Amino acid sequence: MSDDKKVIFSGIQPSGFLTLGNYLGALNNWTKLQDEYNCLYCIMDLHTITVRQDPAKFRKAERELIMQYIASGLDPEQNIMYYQSHVSQHAELSWILGCYIYMGELQRMTQFKEKSQKHSDNINAGLFTYPVLMAADILLYQTDLVPVGEDQRQHLELAREVASRFNKLYGDVFKIPEAYISKVGARVMALQDPSKKMSKSDENKNNTIAIMDPPEVIMSKFKKAVTDSDNEVRYSDDKPGVSNLLNIYCAVTGSTTAEAEREFDGFGYGDFKKSVGEAVVAKLEPVQKKFMELQNNKDYIDSIIKNNTEKARHLADRTLSRVQKKIGFMPRV
Ligand code: TYM
Repeated sequence: MSDDKKVIFSGIQPSGFLTLGNYLGALNNWTKLQDEYNCLYCIMDLHTITVRQDPAKFRKAERELIMQYIASGLDPEQNIMYYQSHVSQHAELSWILGCYIYMGELQRMTQFKEKSQKHSDNINAGLFTYPVLMAADILLYQTDLVPVGEDQRQHLELAREVASRFNKLYGDVFKIPEAYISKVGARVMALQDPSKKMSKSDENKNNTIAIMDPPEVIMSKFKKAVTDSDNEVRYSDDKPGVSNLLNIYCAVTGSTTAEAEREFDGFGYGDFKKSVGEAVVAKLEPVQKKFMELQNNKDYIDSIIKNNTEKARHLADRTLSRVQKKIGFMPRV
């Protein structure tokens, strides 16, 4: 890693195939940052077990997620990609930070409230302390920027808060990270219900586009997407369905909202939705192709993990040992 570049850290949970929301809110932005920054892109498997997983399916999802990272355009030579559970410093720093974050702060987290409603049979302590581990992930690498979707903003605020709190007590130990949230694509909504975000775990599959969905499935889901009754392609808070589709179109093509509105002026919703579908299919086609190629290349994936994990451990340990020393733990002998 070069010393004169800023550090980026982000990650995704391996809990099934990525959605267009994950892709546009996170991955697609990551690929734009890889030249300018030192980037670490982690597979957040420790976070994933806050919801019960089937071990065989989980392992498959972990392997496929790293393949989706690479297929989306992340260069494994340039970015550090690794599994969170392979770098034990994440869990160690998480324990320490948990002693500097208050119960009240965690109780305010909207993701905890939402997930504990959804998984009311398994409100485990890990679900509650999830943001503590996320703060540890970020702070371990002296991260400058964290590219995420809008739904992670509150967690990031907590990471900043605990970093400042720790620095006030012990001097400058942690860099205070900033969120990097793009204007378009940061909040992709469900296609059939644009009042809620597009989510991997949605039971109605017509709400989500998986990045590996075949073209005909993508087209059919966009065809069924809800719009409204006034037949005008315009971005507006009172037109959530149409605005979501415009947002997706802009994120995929790079057009501004004004350009897209002009392009679709006079279009009926049927043709508009077809165009959005086609733009998404075109964007995902090379990703899907590359993913298929990687499927036959297990050794290559293994070698990437091997090389990258050591680099991540080395960087993480620099921060962790500094933290331990500041707190007053006995020096390692
Ligand atoms: P996860 O796996 O839920 O989501 C991964 C990324 O996708 C973004 N995202 C969306 N963006 C736009 N529209 C949507 N509908 C949408 N759904 C998801 C998320 O904002 C995220 O950027 N807690 C994190 C994982 C994590 C992490 C970290 C991220 C753990 N430690 C440290 C950054 C830094 C999560 O649950 O992501």
